[in-house]
Amino acid sequence: MKIAVVGTGYVGLVTGTCFAEAGNKVACVDIDKSKVEKLSAGQITIYEPGLEKIFLRNIQESRLKFMSQLEEAVEDAEIIFLALPTPPGADGSADLKYVLDVADHLGKILKGYKVIANKSTVPVGTADKVSTAISKNYTGEYDVVSNPEFLREGVAVDDFMKPDRVVVGTRSERAKKLMCDLYAPFVRQGNPVIFMDERSSELTKYAANSFLATKISFMNEIAQLCERMGADVDMVRRGIGSDDRIGKRFLFPGIGYGGSCFPKDVQALIMSSDEVNYEFEILKAVEKVNAHQKLHIVEKIKAHYNNNLQGKHFALWGLAFKPNTDDIRESPALSIIDAITEAGATITAYDPEAMPNVKAKIGDKIKYAENQYHALEGATALIIATEWSEFKTPDFDLMEKKIGNKIVFDGRNLFDIKKMIGLGYYYDSIGRNKK
Ligand SMILES: NC(=O)c1ccc[n+]([C@@H]2O[C@H](COP(=O)([O-])OP(=O)(O)OC[C@H]3O[C@@H](n4cnc5c(N)ncnc54)[C@H](O)[C@@H]3O)[C@@H](O)[C@H]2O)c1
Repeated sequence: MKIAVVGTGYVGLVTGTCFAEAGNKVACVDIDKSKVEKLSAGQITIYEPGLEKIFLRNIQESRLKFMSQLEEAVEDAEIIFLALPTPPGADGSADLKYVLDVADHLGKILKGYKVIANKSTVPVGTADKVSTAISKNYTGEYDVVSNPEFLREGVAVDDFMKPDRVVVGTRSERAKKLMCDLYAPFVRQGNPVIFMDERSSELTKYAANSFLATKISFMNEIAQLCERMGADVDMVRRGIGSDDRIGKRFLFPGIGYGGSCFPKDVQALIMSSDEVNYEFEILKAVEKVNAHQKLHIVEKIKAHYNNNLQGKHFALWGLAFKPNTDDIRESPALSIIDAITEAGATITAYDPEAMPNVKAKIGDKIKYAENQYHALEGATALIIATEWSEFKTPDFDLMEKKIGNKIVFDGRNLFDIKKMIGLGYYYDSIGRNKK
């Protein structure tokens, strides 16, 4: 099948590459010319495990192309995917300008029947708005379909190639058939392609992300109780997670959720609810809990040093909002950096993939280390903000040689408390007894 993908960021690049990997001819288009130049030259623009190999293979096989002209990309395409930003606007609701600008442009250039499938996370009713924008200038046949994306950064290729489910919102039989054919190779093991109307599909994406954010905030509140009541959140997590109705996943407390999706999607659903005069009280609490949790570890650090961080120097392991990605959007590590430096301390950080993005965003506000051990030199204490595998099993002998003070504030509960005590550390983590 011939496909166009508009927007070549985290979602668009994975989408385009994975569709090409399944044998489709994919034209990816982006407004960012330098990105298109890099991608066309075989230079990958994001870090995502397993992506580069199939990206290069599909360029080589001429199934994957990059360009900056929308006309050229959509000319032959049967399905046009939109993978465009939907950032929060000034009031927190999703800003649809990128999606609607492209819809408007499409209306001026479409020829023949096309399916326009929206992968961006958008409020209920957007498919109608996209359709209206196209129809201003185009009188030919087309269908606008909602096809929310559920991939997780860090495991995006696996998620895309073997999705738990594919959700498609359309009431058009013609579009349904095309989407069915396109996704068939991805659901051979029997996972469902769930068809529904456009509005339900749009809401499904917000409901999924908001539910997961709620699960995280709930566990973060349980962790707060554990710290106050002398219970251990790891035990509580295992105790409840083995109940099938609750499930084991998304029960890990930490330093709050971040990333480009949960914060903005929770905010956007609250705003959408307000618009229909419904106060989504649980979600308002979820946001509040998360904002507090992002700084909980800083409160612990401040308390440990009698509220005086002036002149202290911290090592920070982890900058990405989660492991296996270079994405730092809304990363809790950035909130920690702000709070710690505002309190007069300095930081040397290490992250396996995210340092270039952080440097581009905050420059010399902190120092950057060559590796995780180098970051420890001269540090008052170590703060852990991202659970990269290499942080989970460090070389403790080397760590001991580099760290002056054996003090660790672990926002991701990476280590066994007894082990850390045995090694002589002061070790404070989330929802567990500090030692
Ligand atoms: N990142 C995720 O994990 C994830 C997962 C599921 C859904 N989503 C949703 O998918 C959408 C895209 O997210 P993302 O993380 O890929 O964003 P992104 O910012 O990484 O990528 C968006 C891309 O669109 C390009 N763009 C902007 N305007 C354009 C235009 N007029 N024409 C062509 N390209 C244009 C940008 O240059 C950028 O490369 C958002 O709605 C997001 O909520 C993201």
